Amino acid sequence: MRILFIGDVVGKPGRKIVERAVPGLVREHGLDLVVANAENAAGGSGLTPSIYRELVRAGVDAITLGDHIYRRREIYSVLESETNIVKPANLPPESVGRNWALVTARNGERVAVFCLLGQLFMKPVNSPWQAADRVLGELPGDVRVRLVDFHAEATSDMQLMGRYLDGRVAAVLGTHTHVPTADECILPEGTAFQCDVGMTGPFESIIGRRIDRVLATTLTGLPTEFDVATKDVRLCGTIVDVDSATGRATTIRRLCVTESDLPRLQSPPAE
Ligand SMILES: [Fe+2]
Ligand SMILES: [Fe+2]
Repeated sequence: MRILFIGDVVGKPGRKIVERAVPGLVREHGLDLVVANAENAAGGSGLTPSIYRELVRAGVDAITLGDHIYRRREIYSVLESETNIVKPANLPPESVGRNWALVTARNGERVAVFCLLGQLFMKPVNSPWQAADRVLGELPGDVRVRLVDFHAEATSDMQLMGRYLDGRVAAVLGTHTHVPTADECILPEGTAFQCDVGMTGPFESIIGRRIDRVLATTLTGLPTEFDVATKDVRLCGTIVDVDSATGRATTIRRLCVTESDLPRLQSPPAE
């Protein structure tokens, strides 16, 4: 089966390219499942119920989140009621949301999805290593295809998580830095790995925000509004092929859709 994992969807530009590209990508690549990290989908930080529905309508089958998960409180009700959206599993147990999700792919297979937060250069959280073990212990044994979004800042942490979970999940794919890394590989025991799949949003920016505003605040120390930028919008993600009998990955490749790809993706399928 073929899974597309889309990196941090940033604001309206990110949502719009998801909406325009995903149906065509599903067709063009024969995707069985689309998963996206949506922690920045609402104005660059957090997620709202209407944006959640917008992403699902666009063809996103499961949603992961990150350190900005609770920026918009409206999302609590979705985190409590919907079964295809997860909170980072190493947040406090009292926090709102589910630690893992089971979603049915287009080929009929069930896939487990969960996400974890890194500890290095991030706000303090519980151990992602223990949380990963706990989630893997809870998942039904017959669900062999398992996808992990490791939302972390440090590449060393990301590489460690890949090695820690190698052979136990189909893929460990990173998010949070908003910059795609060129290190995609299949680890020795069959786990697809990439430090960060990159951002889905405006690349003429500082990780999605207006360059002038971030620069002014950095140089002067004075606050500005870090509005979401608008130019050079790209959808960054990674496609993983998984042998659903074993849950091991067979191939991994990076995907970057630019605005110039949209006419092709939006044209009606050839007969
Ligand atoms: Fe992010
Ligand atoms: Fe983040």
